Amino acid sequence: MDCGLNTSNFSFLIWSLFLIGLSYSDKFHFETAPKFKFVKDAKFAPRILSFDYIVIGGGTCGCPLAATLSHGASVLVLERGGSPYTNPEKINIHNFVTSLSEISPLSFAQQFISRDGVLNARARVLGGGSVLNAGFYSRASSRFIRESGWNETMAMFAYKWVEKKVAFEPTLLQWQSAVKDALLEVGVLPYNGFSLDHLYGTKIGATIFDKEGNRHTAADLLEYADPRRISVYIHATVHKILFRYNIEKRRPQAYGVIFRDAIGKMHKAYLSKRSRKNEVIVSAGALGSPQLLMLSGIGPAKHLKAHGIKVVLDQPLVGKGMADNPMNVLVVPSPIPVEVSLIQTVGITKFGSFIETASGLSIGHSWSERLQGIFEFVSNQSGQPSSVMYPPEQKEESVADTIRSLSNPILKGGVILEKIIGPRSTGHLELLTTNPNDNPSVTFNYFKDPEDLKKCVLGMKTIIDVINSKSFSKFRYHNMPVEALIDLMYHIPMNLRPKHASAPFSLEQYCIDTVLTIWHYHGGCQVGKVVDLDYRVRGVDGLRVIDGSTFYRSPGTNPQATVMMLGRYMGEKILIKRYFQEKK
Ligand SMILES: Cc1cc2nc3c(=O)[nH]c(=O)nc-3n(C[C@H](O)[C@H](O)[C@H](O)COP(=O)(O)OP(=O)(O)OC[C@H]3O[C@@H](n4cnc5c(N)ncnc54)[C@H](O)[C@@H]3O)c2cc1C
Ligand SMILES: *[C@@H]1O[C@H](CO)[C@@H](O)[C@H](O)[C@H]1NC(C)=O
Ligand SMILES: *[C@@H]1O[C@H](CO)[C@@H](O)[C@H](O)[C@H]1NC(C)=O
Repeated sequence: MDCGLNTSNFSFLIWSLFLIGLSYSDKFHFETAPKFKFVKDAKFAPRILSFDYIVIGGGTCGCPLAATLSHGASVLVLERGGSPYTNPEKINIHNFVTSLSEISPLSFAQQFISRDGVLNARARVLGGGSVLNAGFYSRASSRFIRESGWNETMAMFAYKWVEKKVAFEPTLLQWQSAVKDALLEVGVLPYNGFSLDHLYGTKIGATIFDKEGNRHTAADLLEYADPRRISVYIHATVHKILFRYNIEKRRPQAYGVIFRDAIGKMHKAYLSKRSRKNEVIVSAGALGSPQLLMLSGIGPAKHLKAHGIKVVLDQPLVGKGMADNPMNVLVVPSPIPVEVSLIQTVGITKFGSFIETASGLSIGHSWSERLQGIFEFVSNQSGQPSSVMYPPEQKEESVADTIRSLSNPILKGGVILEKIIGPRSTGHLELLTTNPNDNPSVTFNYFKDPEDLKKCVLGMKTIIDVINSKSFSKFRYHNMPVEALIDLMYHIPMNLRPKHASAPFSLEQYCIDTVLTIWHYHGGCQVGKVVDLDYRVRGVDGLRVIDGSTFYRSPGTNPQATVMMLGRYMGEKILIKRYFQEKK
């Protein structure tokens, strides 16, 4: 890979975005007793199992969903990753970057690079993305809830059920306070204080990190489960959903799944014949769910046939509508020491851009090598054209110098970022192989829709105003104008996309050239397209998809609150329907 140097440079910035007091600690503590007796390694699973509900993916949505369903039926959860409880230190706030950047086949993060040339990551662990993420917790707007067709009262109960276990009020220190004051100074009004709600203006949101920096994840929501009626297998990778033809209804019906454990043994789980209401529920995330539907024969017939997959249902919309909210940033070195903080303050503008911030960059030299390794690993695995996206003639001579000056481990500073609502631009997902462990190919088409670009430009203007504000002044070098900060981002390749630094400067071009991910990707099994309003897969029986793959746009400023809420909400709805209909 001839862009190794550049990508490592980019990486060291992106990974420092939320980097808080990075520390390599060998002193990991191992938990002796497992947290839940019902969570077991799949190699101990019987060859044949039978349950009322089979939930594929014990992620951010799958855990609350399964915990809820266990109160009315027997539930099996199959999660391909490991347990977040074996090593609590690993998911502490201080190891955010370490965990996110691991590249072993057992790591909690599985790296991928979208066709857009942006490094991204997906979860592979019980608790899903909530085990990897930056922890910010904030609900969706009531408009989003209404437009999703959810009952607002029930949704509110579901949010509160989640929050009782995982949401904490953060302590605001100096950097986060300065950005908050700056947002108010530049007109992102009113000030809404600490709030879980999505409100125009500036507010402090909740976090899933407690005061000690311990992460509380969706896996903790399994504390709500009925332990007698739930079985969770980890290191259980589902290869296929099984269908038979339902003659009465004249369509395919899901009746079970095939999964593989870590030692390569295959197992079959069937829906018990106890009730015709039993179902397979896919909660494998925005990449995993459309991928698994395709591997099981539901997707665009031509594409499936090209991979030798037997078509169960020709559904061209599987894998369509993939979207990732573009994130653009400025890194701000500070003349005074800054605290270590992840996202706490957020500015919710009326023009559809959300401003967030993190501080306490501490950058070690080993990062560039480590992250160069990630890029090499991902492109080795997927054969994606990472080096093609960055033409060699555009490499900058001064990069090495910039890196040297920035990689001083005692660098003080932070990052101010903006993410746009939506987005309107969408792309698609396709299989590269028929192995469920491999990444599919994903294209997000950042800024294809000009409205998205407008929001980014307005967001960047707000960030620039914040940096130039009085409230923020003590955290910046006054001999370093904003132009220098922008220039810095151009001299440090941020991603694998072509750069146009020599063209006349425009914020439009800056947005396009330096786009990153905030990991809020969604779509692929959208409501009204692949699933109906009750999240049932259209055209087949006994199958639903419930997770972030069903969204048209990302909820709230950040999605996890609503993803967890959806799991709880749909679990309740399914049980209500099950009992109402069984009594008839
Ligand atoms: C680095 C990062 C930072 C983020 N920061 C924030 C933040 O600060 N605030 C916020 O609100 N959101 C944040 N997000 C986004 C949020 O975490 C995700 O939107 C959310 O976790 C998605 O939930 P999900 O249930 O759709 O998918 P996941 O949580 O990804 O769950 C899918 C699960 O399915 C499993 N799976 C997939 N395929 C299979 C298979 N074939 N067999 C068995 N299991 C399978 C996966 O291992 C995974 O555990 C962040 C995300 C990341 C990655
Ligand atoms: C929403 O749910 C509540 C509580 O279950 C119920 O009382 C109410 O009628 C529902 N509202 C609508 C509009 O369906
Ligand atoms: C990538 O592939 C090359 C060539 O096969 C190999 O030498 C290298 O070790 C691989 N890198 C990683 C990180 O897997």
